[in-house]
Amino acid sequence: MKHEEKQQQKIIFVTGKGGVGKSIFALALAQKYSQGQKVLLVELGLHSFYSDFLGVSVEYQPTPLSKNLDIALWSGAECLKEYALHLLKAESLYKLFFENRISRALIDVAPALSELAILGKATSGIRQVGPELSYDVIIVDAYATGHFMALLRAPRGMNESIQFGPMAEQTRTILKTIRDPQICEYAIVTLPEELPAVEAEELHQALVSEVGLNARIYCNKVWPQAEILKLKKESGTAGVRVSDAEMNFVQELESLVERQQVWIQYLKQRDSNMKLIPMVFSSEPRQIVTEVGKSLL
Ligand SMILES: Nc1ncnc2c1ncn2[C@@H]1O[C@H](COP(=O)(O)OP(=O)(O)OP(=O)(O)O)[C@@H](O)[C@H]1O
Ligand SMILES: [Mg+2]
Repeated sequence: MKHEEKQQQKIIFVTGKGGVGKSIFALALAQKYSQGQKVLLVELGLHSFYSDFLGVSVEYQPTPLSKNLDIALWSGAECLKEYALHLLKAESLYKLFFENRISRALIDVAPALSELAILGKATSGIRQVGPELSYDVIIVDAYATGHFMALLRAPRGMNESIQFGPMAEQTRTILKTIRDPQICEYAIVTLPEELPAVEAEELHQALVSEVGLNARIYCNKVWPQAEILKLKKESGTAGVRVSDAEMNFVQELESLVERQQVWIQYLKQRDSNMKLIPMVFSSEPRQIVTEVGKSLL
């Protein structure tokens, strides 16, 4: 493919309440995109979820996971080091500044600097700064709700305090990129339950006001309503002998899917195209990823 024909890189940030299935979803989405495009799946933080899950070593530099799919773990400190080296050019200058006691203290008290560096890294391919990041799609298994919003607010906060010089210029291009609907997508993973659904709704609004974009909502662990209703019908059929315990169980399931429907309708008011991801009845993580992936096709 000639360079000018190359499509623009896409960055997808995956967020949502803790424990709702963000990492499973991000991996399934990355596998889906890697069927036709070159994908980098990125984890944020110091510890990798996928390294145990997939039995691979996940580091700052991308490691190949499968055809067209690489994986990496980005900590704020490593992104900041790379960013600083890019600005300061020489390792010796980097050491002079970053290994200096006063600047170290400054970095420790200014988490926004590390957050900015993470966003700087994620958008570096698009902005053509720093080392090459030659992927068609970057999927970021990002932080949960509150921390994610702090990450996104970092460039705006920095822009308010530093208005001139190379750092201010970089910050402005990061801001522009995270607000560009042609480049960035935001995926909120949630569950059809009160707390995660209300949190997802608030997060959706916060994203509209922070980056001006409508996030897509993915409702995970939806129980199979049709099958449960069928089960109920069958257990009520004349000639089928069911114990009280079995009947109670079916009724429990029925009220569970009814409650789920209430929260699904609530979430649909925010995103009428919201995707439903089924609850996968398996204890085998890879099978869960495969089944979740099928619902994304
Ligand atoms: N559709 C699903 N069906 C069944 N189990 C699921 C489904 N999605 C996720 N899980 C399970 O739910 C648990 C939490 O998933 P996951 O680790 O992806 O959540 P997370 O949002 O990334 O959590 P954290 O906030 O801790 O990073 C895991 O045990 C996972 O296997
Ligand atoms: Mg996770």
